[in-house]
Amino acid sequence: QTTPLADRFGRIATDLRVSLTDRCNLRCEYCMPAEGLDWLPTDDVLTDDEVVRLVTIGVEHLGIREVRFTGGEPLIRRGLVGIVERTHALGVETSLTTNGLGLERTAAALAAAGLDRVNVSIDSIRPETFAAVTRRDRLHDVVAGLRAAHAAGLGPVKLNAVLLRGVNDDQAPELLRWAVEHGYQLRFIEQMPLDAQHGWSRTEMVTADEIQRLLEKEFTLEPAEEPRGSAPAELFTVDGGPATVGIIASVSRPFCGDCDRVRLTADGQVRNCLFAREESDLRGAMRSGASDEEVADRWVTAMAGKRAGHGIDDPTFLQPDRPMSAIGG
Ligand code: GTP
Ligand code: 5AD
Ligand code: SF4
Repeated sequence: QTTPLADRFGRIATDLRVSLTDRCNLRCEYCMPAEGLDWLPTDDVLTDDEVVRLVTIGVEHLGIREVRFTGGEPLIRRGLVGIVERTHALGVETSLTTNGLGLERTAAALAAAGLDRVNVSIDSIRPETFAAVTRRDRLHDVVAGLRAAHAAGLGPVKLNAVLLRGVNDDQAPELLRWAVEHGYQLRFIEQMPLDAQHGWSRTEMVTADEIQRLLEKEFTLEPAEEPRGSAPAELFTVDGGPATVGIIASVSRPFCGDCDRVRLTADGQVRNCLFAREESDLRGAMRSGASDEEVADRWVTAMAGKRAGHGIDDPTFLQPDRPMSAIGG
């Protein structure tokens, strides 16, 4: 018997995003400082069995239908393939959001474990710019990872790009051209106030309207026909299709009204929103002997506090305590 993860506004979460680690092997400017962050203590991070137990409770008791693994960088997590395999066995769709480092080595094993899709971050197709954004000279590995993912059938492979003014914004059309040529669906994401350094500024952010104008210098974009549902990306056909490009306008055109997501941090806290101010401690419950039903009840209760929207434009907006890397994108 399932109890839906419903909130006060009638939204029902069926899409679970699970962060498997807060660590990362890149240092993207819009995410974390060059020196990294104070990582979660190892003992606080859920074990593989604990992750699988929570996912199973989500699927069997709470109506979760899709599970996406995120980080930090989820490929760093040693038990990833096993976790994917056990999640796939529950009969839900599984996907991964990654920076692509190491994907060349693991794509085939992930596909064999039942992973359905991957989304890979790539902010530039020029090595110098890639290194300037991520502070690591690893573009080559990402591209190799993409190729391996595509070959392993982990598709359709989607790409995520964040544009930073004066850094890579002028390269948006070139990145799109490359993605279209290689058969990847590229999505441009508006930068959100989730960086550890608190350096985000509404006026510096490259807006969805700007992104569209940048792309329209070289391409004809038209709203795609496919229904969007609860997906964050608005899709446009590129030069008449069939290729499409997405714009994720989280800030300027929020999609919170259609939200169907709930998040689990690497240390076992439920977050009802990317921008939630409170978390609910499922790890503590599990480790003190709670039954599956008790854990499920706590999870249902955690949804009641979900707010209508992120409120980024409210004068009283406060960035969440955790940065994106510790929440899972
Ligand atoms: P698909 O199912 O493949 O479309 O995945 P996705 O686009 O939801 O996931 P992905 O992890 O690739 O995220 C792309 C961007 O969308 C990231 O910047 C996420 O932080 C952002 N995003 C994902 N879910 C949410 C959400 O619920 N709210 C907001 N504001 N942004 C989100
Ligand atoms: N705003 C928007 N997107 C971000 N990402 C990381 N930090 C931010 C931010 N502050 C992106 C990553 C990755 C995806 C999960 O989220 O580039 O592709
Ligand atoms: Fe859902 Fe919160 Fe994202 Fe809005 S900001 S779409 S409510 S997770």
